[in-house]
Amino acid sequence: GRVLLAYSGGLDTSCILAWLIEQGYEVYAFMADVGQEEDFEAARKKALAVGAKKFFLEDLKREFVTDLIYPAVQANAIYENVYLLGTSLARPVIARGMIAIADKEGCDFVSHGCTGKGNDQVRFELAFYGLKPDIKVVAPWRIPGMFPLFSSYEFALLTYAAEKQIPVQQTAAKPWSTDENLFHISYEAGILEDPDTTPPADMWKLTASPEEAPTTPQKISIEFKAGLPVKVTDGSNVYTDPVDVFLALNALARKHGIGRIDIVENRFIGVKSRGCYESPAATILRVAHMDIEGLTLDRNVRALRDQFVTIELARILYNGHWFTPEREFVVSSIPASQRTVNGVVRLKLYKGNVIVEGRSSDEGLYDEKQSSMDELGGFEPTDTTGFIQIESIRIKKWAQANIRKGEA
Ligand code: ARG
Ligand code: SIN
Repeated sequence: GRVLLAYSGGLDTSCILAWLIEQGYEVYAFMADVGQEEDFEAARKKALAVGAKKFFLEDLKREFVTDLIYPAVQANAIYENVYLLGTSLARPVIARGMIAIADKEGCDFVSHGCTGKGNDQVRFELAFYGLKPDIKVVAPWRIPGMFPLFSSYEFALLTYAAEKQIPVQQTAAKPWSTDENLFHISYEAGILEDPDTTPPADMWKLTASPEEAPTTPQKISIEFKAGLPVKVTDGSNVYTDPVDVFLALNALARKHGIGRIDIVENRFIGVKSRGCYESPAATILRVAHMDIEGLTLDRNVRALRDQFVTIELARILYNGHWFTPEREFVVSSIPASQRTVNGVVRLKLYKGNVIVEGRSSDEGLYDEKQSSMDELGGFEPTDTTGFIQIESIRIKKWAQANIRKGEA
């Protein structure tokens, strides 16, 4: 059969490519450009040299921003209160790109190099099935005895690579694994598996360290329409195209050391995993979007959204449930929550911090007169006396019962 392999250009997927050929498959290699720093031409040459019959490179950056990143920004999606979901967000667009090529090129099989312990295998495969239920998946890492695991995994791969004459980069492999796209980079495994090992300073690739970031703050403003960043101004430059906006914020955040985290998270399959991440633009957008919502979003809409959409969207993304009915349901509620989220946030970027300096909007939910401590604003002080009296009825009952029990 013909198999489309999600190829990275690295050692793992090159070995998998060779192995698939050995199993008798005709292999087509697929790469997605989701904004990662990568020598795509070198990867193409390598895939063909190892034996791929065709190589496909798809530029998915725009749909990544507009179809996945934007709903996540609008919903303030976050996993376990810290992880902004950069890897999870890229998987649906990559899987969709792959299935489109598999359909066009008549591939009955798709394959990937995800390990049997992680989230990505689940995300890719559920996405494949959600798009093309009759697709057949080859997951080499889960095939017993695929690579001899009695020796170290790296050694086994190198041995296999030598046997198959797969070129191995001379530069020593980093002692961790990464996943990069225009939203973020992740670092996991290797020396990071000890959760008490501080990552070496030279691990961080996308952002300056806060200590080395400029001592002069950068002021910027972000305009939101329906909860989406439609304009970024950084003094001299103005950006309006969705991809440009995201890339401009990335450049600013990287320079000012914004967006690093180091966490232990719970993977979908139930194991804990230590991960370090850099999400530069996304960190600025989160602060700015939550701030403009403070000024423009109704209290009860906000509370419902926080309890339901924010939490469920994060779960859907993290667990790989993008191509599902619950995603359609949850995502379709986002525009209704963002109708009034229009306005401008002014920010200061300084040594790892995103500091809000002010915000404005024409929405009119905030009434300076009504909120003022110095003026009466459409209701009487005695109205509030009644409000507190009624609110206190059950609280007084509860307190009385406590006192009674204490006396008994
Ligand atoms: N733990 C993160 C997540 O599950 C990052 C996964 C990184 N994936 C990778 N293939 N290196 O979203
Ligand atoms: C992998 O296991 O392939 C990477 C990590 C993950 O998917 O969670």
